[in-house]
Amino acid sequence: MLQAQIVTPHSPQNFRETQIAALINNAENGQWRIEDGIDWSIHPSPPNFLTQRFIGRALGALMAGEEATAAACTMLLAGIPDADLRICLEFQAMDEDRHAEVYRSYLERVGMPPLIPDGFREATKQLVNWKGPPAGLVFAVHVVLESEALTLQHELSDDIRCPLFQAINRRVTQDEARHVAFGQLVSASANAQLTAQERQETVAAIKDIWDACIKALVNDNAVLWRAVKGFSERRWALQAKSLEKLGLINSVAA
Ligand SMILES: [Fe+2]
Ligand SMILES: [Fe+2]
Repeated sequence: MLQAQIVTPHSPQNFRETQIAALINNAENGQWRIEDGIDWSIHPSPPNFLTQRFIGRALGALMAGEEATAAACTMLLAGIPDADLRICLEFQAMDEDRHAEVYRSYLERVGMPPLIPDGFREATKQLVNWKGPPAGLVFAVHVVLESEALTLQHELSDDIRCPLFQAINRRVTQDEARHVAFGQLVSASANAQLTAQERQETVAAIKDIWDACIKALVNDNAVLWRAVKGFSERRWALQAKSLEKLGLINSVAA
């Protein structure tokens, strides 16, 4: 459970509360609707067949990730008494549902059904069926997966040279940046609630989900897995560095 801490005028806790209040303000003002939050009059660039399959898979994976993140936020809400943190998570769950829907609308617009990679939904279900302490789930969702999704969204926007997708991506990434900022703000308190063993188990659980997602993305194809394994390990090394900075990974043990 994420708990409130004692506040003094210039304490880090006071700073955190100010920042959380700013995030709530940003979330309130930053809400948008699929119908009019995107300029749907922008014509999508017609993707060729191969690009269509790539887009279908990439966005299918993002959609499944968005849905799992929304479910994880709802789970976290069950154990959080702090009113401000609850508001952030409620906004986030709405944001993630909207993101899944806007990607679905985009795929409809380009005439491509979402192709959710085999096993990907199962892999992300590990978040929803999280067995560890809720504070560990914050690291899985708000630190690792949110920042990875943000990177993926930026890369996709470069790869899918479509003005409509780029317009969607601009809106979605504004919301995601807020979710990443939330993770950074609550990570110290979440980390303080974990024992050394729980920290190790949390890192191992996040790495399991990470590997399961990557394997599902390459459809459990051994050749493809070998091809992307190096890339995946390099990305994981960056994530491990941020987990170390936030105290989840002990720098001596890392
Ligand atoms: Fe999202
Ligand atoms: Fe998010």
